[in-house]
Amino acid sequence: MNKNLAKYSSLLVTGGAGFIGSNFVINWLAENAGTMINLDLLTYSGNLMNLTSLKEDQRHLFVKGDIGDRELIKQLLEKHRPHAIVNFAAESHVDRSIIGPETFVETNVVGTFRLLDECLKYWNTLADDDKRNFRFLHVSTDEVYGSLDEADPKFTEEKQYEPNSPYSASKAASDHFVRAYHHTFGLPVLTTNCSNNYGPYQYPEKLIPLVIANCMDWKPLPIYGDGMNVRDWLYVSDHCDAITAVLNSGEIGETYNIGGNNEITNLDLVKTICSILNEISPSSHGNYQELITFVTDRPGHDRRYAIDTTKVETSLGWSPNESFQTGIRKTIEWYLENIDWVAAVKDGSYKDWLNTNYSAR
Ligand code: NAD
Ligand code: TYD
Repeated sequence: MNKNLAKYSSLLVTGGAGFIGSNFVINWLAENAGTMINLDLLTYSGNLMNLTSLKEDQRHLFVKGDIGDRELIKQLLEKHRPHAIVNFAAESHVDRSIIGPETFVETNVVGTFRLLDECLKYWNTLADDDKRNFRFLHVSTDEVYGSLDEADPKFTEEKQYEPNSPYSASKAASDHFVRAYHHTFGLPVLTTNCSNNYGPYQYPEKLIPLVIANCMDWKPLPIYGDGMNVRDWLYVSDHCDAITAVLNSGEIGETYNIGGNNEITNLDLVKTICSILNEISPSSHGNYQELITFVTDRPGHDRRYAIDTTKVETSLGWSPNESFQTGIRKTIEWYLENIDWVAAVKDGSYKDWLNTNYSAR
């Protein structure tokens, strides 16, 4: 079976207007014949422009709503009777979780809990075959594992949870509820813990699109602390393929670490973006590296994340298609070609965020 072909012909996806969710929805509908309900609250990072290419696709039903709205979830499940749920919906930015943690508890913890609880009720009504085949896939992060020192081994699925930010603590709590709903009630769950993603449609508060957008406007490129923090970067389509592989063949109750085996310091990453931009879109102002500006560090900033992908590679045959060099170039080209998208997301609330996060640094 083509690894991108899903076993499931009717999915309920949450958070499918955000960065990873919209890439997943677009890729899944391009590769599969089934239908998809896409539930998204359209918070600041949710954007219907991400789904413009699906306007004429009758198989895609967008519903604006909250994963914490039990009545809505119940109605959607009863009406559309999906075979599986993929839960992307979340508050996703560490810096926002430092400035305002409460929405992270509301959506990531309480919202995921209510979604799970309504799914359990629905699952209990299914006939035996449908019950056996149903899946609840929870999309989580490597940040739940905490921070590594330079010489530490990469995160395996056995690494104990040590979340350090309100964001990672809220994701860790949601992972624990997902685990508990399997262990206690038998709900057939799967969890993926992925490293940093990059690619089209990422809201430009995250490092890579922020740096590209600031270069395009010849604005400073803010590097927190000494720039030596290390992240492992994965191209978003590769993450989407991994989710499909886990949905198809993952073992119920298991967790799968997903990563790109691309560890790089923030400073080297920003320099790489600058040198590609110098080559493909030179500025009359000079070399983009001149914009690099060291600013006050993020409180509690995790030093290093690194993912051991042995389990997903050996048990499910997944591995990334893009190298960092090919993926970052594609990503930069996408942002340059989609100036309208970038301009549209830089609305009033985006400017407010830049002011809140960077003015005092
Ligand atoms: P994003 O912020 O771009 O998108 C989140 C989406 O969820 C938005 O469309 C938003 O409108 C929606 N949403 C928020 N609260 C909601 C609610 N209460 N009900 C319904 N919809 C709601 O985030 P992303 O980067 O696409 O991340 C998606 C998921 O992947 C998250 O669960 C995140 O923790 C996880 N993840 C992200 C990364 C990464 O590098 N971006 C890495 C690993 C895991
Ligand atoms: P980010 O994209 O916010 O992802 P995460 O914090 O979830 O890993 O940040 C990636 C890295 O880049 C992280 O070490 C923080 C750093 N960073 C900066 O140095 N400057 C910035 O303006 C931002 C947003 C992030």
